[in-house]
Amino acid sequence: MAPVIISDPSQMLALVEDQKRVGKRVGLVPTMGALHAGHLSLVERATNHTDFTVVTIFVNPTQFGPNEDLDKYPRNLQQDLRLLSACNVDVIFTPTVEAMYPTGASTRIVPPEVARPLEGEIRPKHFEGVATIVLKLFHLIPADIGFFGQKDYQQTRVIGQMVEDLNIPIEVQVCPIIREDDGLALSSRNAYLSDTERLQAVALSKALFCIQRMVQEGERNSNALLETAKQTLADASIGQIDYVALVDKHDLSPVQRVDSKTIAVAAVYVGKTRLIDNVFLS
Ligand code: PAJ
Repeated sequence: MAPVIISDPSQMLALVEDQKRVGKRVGLVPTMGALHAGHLSLVERATNHTDFTVVTIFVNPTQFGPNEDLDKYPRNLQQDLRLLSACNVDVIFTPTVEAMYPTGASTRIVPPEVARPLEGEIRPKHFEGVATIVLKLFHLIPADIGFFGQKDYQQTRVIGQMVEDLNIPIEVQVCPIIREDDGLALSSRNAYLSDTERLQAVALSKALFCIQRMVQEGERNSNALLETAKQTLADASIGQIDYVALVDKHDLSPVQRVDSKTIAVAAVYVGKTRLIDNVFLS
């Protein structure tokens, strides 16, 4: 059956409440649209693990900084709807900005400590906006399971910690990163890359996989690992590195020596496009 498309928040809540009343397990996949195979992997997991899947498409203005790409963020609703029609999705929720943030709406979530380093240092209000919209979506779609991608690893920690801290009755499932054949993690922002930049961009995953390989071969010293990763980026002429770091996967604090709880994370600019990626080192 074709998914139902809903844009009215109260209609959305009423429909999910109906489904829960008849015992359906509800899955939620929040997105900002411009869907690709990474998003669809979350959708597939949701349809396999729950009885009623809601996908949200909403480019959330509160998580973009003043000089970020809110205006040019790719929007392709017709294609998104086509892709989701082939996926057994029950509802697509596409609210307007006015519906989610009516005039006067000014309450914001103070995100947990894990929001502070890495992305938090470079995009100061980003996780405040993410936590606020995700909590609003959890209220409008009181799902049993929310599905999020490891691609935005810090985001999964922020949401997981918020769920714990605020006793939100939802299970958060983190799904693996889907990559292109050459290793580049799929991202809606990859659409910004020119042909030459696309070739350069592969250095990001290459640098992280290089760390992973060195760890497998026995190297544990963070400085040595990070130096090699930075060299891989420099070799591809990737000049602006926001961060390349080895951090604890729970609290995201930097580690001097890698162990099974370490994750390698990076954010770089390829041309004007900011890309992020990460790999576990266990
Ligand atoms: P968006 O960037 O559209 O991503 C929606 C979900 O898809 C996120 O959970 C993200 O981690 C996941 N995702 C993106 N690329 C992926 C990939 N290559 N493999 C696996 N999963 C991938 O993240 C957001 O939107 C927003 O911050 C949101 C949570 C919707 C709040 O506005």
